[in-house]
Amino acid sequence: MTKHFLHLADYTADEILGLLNLAKELKVKFHKKEKYKPFKDRSLAMIFAKPSARTRVSFETGFEWMGGNALFLGPNDIGIGKREAIKDISRLFARYNDMIMARLFDHKHILELAEYSNVPVINGLTDYNHPCQILADILTVLEHRESLKDLKIVYMGDGNNIVHSWLQLASILPMHFVCCNPSGFDPDEKTVQMVYGSQISTFESSHDPNSAVKDADVIYTDVWASMGQKKEEEEREKIFADFQVTMELLERTGKETLFMHCLPAERGREVTDEVMESKNSIVFDEAENRMHAQNAVMVYLQGS
Ligand code: CP
Ligand code: NVA
Repeated sequence: MTKHFLHLADYTADEILGLLNLAKELKVKFHKKEKYKPFKDRSLAMIFAKPSARTRVSFETGFEWMGGNALFLGPNDIGIGKREAIKDISRLFARYNDMIMARLFDHKHILELAEYSNVPVINGLTDYNHPCQILADILTVLEHRESLKDLKIVYMGDGNNIVHSWLQLASILPMHFVCCNPSGFDPDEKTVQMVYGSQISTFESSHDPNSAVKDADVIYTDVWASMGQKKEEEEREKIFADFQVTMELLERTGKETLFMHCLPAERGREVTDEVMESKNSIVFDEAENRMHAQNAVMVYLQGS
C-alpha cells in the first residue's frame, strides 16, 4: 500500500517523533548549504485549488534543494474535479510524477486523490485539516521548550482546519490543548472525541479568552474567516472581536508565553500588530519550519 501524509493521526507517536528528528537534521544541512539530493531526477506535482505563499514556496524550495523538480499547478491550471475527475488526475499524475502535494477545498477530494494514486500524496491543507502546518508547529514549540511535558497550548479563534490538526496531534502526543472560540464555532466533534478516546492529552473547550489563557505556554491563533469563507468576514469580525490576541491577553497568562500563528495573519483582526512584532512571537520560526518538516515528510515517504 502506498503511504500518504493526509492526517497526523494516521501516524504513530514514534513516526511523528522520527519525522521531527529528521526535520531537525535536514534543517542543519539546509543552513550549512550541504549537498543533499535524494530527489535527483524526481518530480513533485503541486496542485493548488486555493491561494498560498508558504506552502507553495516551502515545498518548491525544499524539493528543489533536495535535487528534484517541483511543478506548480494553480487554481486555474488543471481544474481538478471540474475539468477532470479527481481519480483521473490522480492516476495521470502518478504516471508522470514521483509525489503529489495538493491543497484542496473538500477533504473528501484529497482522500480520493490518495485512494487512486500509487505515488505518495501529501495534504497541503483542506477545509478539514492542515497536517504539514502542525508538524512544523510542534517542531517549533520543541525548539523553544525542551519537552512537551506539561505543555499548555491555547488556541484562540475559529475551531477550524488548524484546530483539527492540533487535535489529531494531541491524540498521539501528550499535551494540554485548549480551544477557545465563540459559541457555534467549535471544532468537529468526532475529532475532539479522538483526543478523549486516546487518553493521551487533556482537551478543554472554552468561550472565555481571559480565563482560558491562564498558565498558557503558547497562545495560537488563525484568521477568523478561512479561505472559502471570506464572504463571512465582516459578520465574523463582530462575533470574534473579544477573541483578538492582544498584549494584554498575552500578559494575562502569568508566565512567559509564546505567540504562534500559521500565517497569513490579518493584523488588527485576530492579532494586533504589537503581538506579531513582540519578542513572544515565533511566527517566522514556524513559517521556516514548514520547509524542514515537509522535507522530512517527503524523504520519509520516498523511503517507505
Ligand atoms: N500557513 C500556510 O499554509 O500558508 P499559505 O496559505 O500561505 O500556504
Ligand atoms: N484556516 C486558514 C489556514 C491558512 C493557512 C485557512 O484555511 O484559510
